[in-house]
Amino acid sequence: MGVVEAKEIAAIVDRHGREASKLLPILQETQRRYGYLPEEAMQQIADALSLPVAKVFGVATFYSLFAVAPKGQHIIRVCENAPCHLRGAEEVFAALREELGIQPGETTADGLFTLEQTSCLGVCGVAPVMMVDEVVYGNLTPTRVREIIANYRRAAVGE
Ligand code: FES
Repeated sequence: MGVVEAKEIAAIVDRHGREASKLLPILQETQRRYGYLPEEAMQQIADALSLPVAKVFGVATFYSLFAVAPKGQHIIRVCENAPCHLRGAEEVFAALREELGIQPGETTADGLFTLEQTSCLGVCGVAPVMMVDEVVYGNLTPTRVREIIANYRRAAVGE
């Protein structure tokens, strides 16, 4: 994509120090800058720290706080803990996967949605629950989630 500028990565690396032990804070800052960790950036970080690219990529994919692909415009997080599970989260999740045509961790081809699973969102009283960005939706059913997705799609095309 060519969005990564070598001098920007060099500046991030220099702020933390060119040492392998600084890899995590360097990756964190790089992710803050780009919203995820572009492959190009990971290559440049590996070179700067004299580490194998595979090592940098391994660390980036090991920690769930890092994303190695761009995220969608909306992040959908579905609660998978027991109270939600017992009240139908699995059916809701299946409806979402079907409606969006993606699996957890993936982003729709139009770049509109990224689907993720999460642990308890602290609103078990209205289980099953999902969050779209900062908005919590409770008492979900497969029909309801399809409506919610349709609303976001309509909003995206400005209807
Ligand atoms: S278990 Fe789902 S919100 Fe608490």
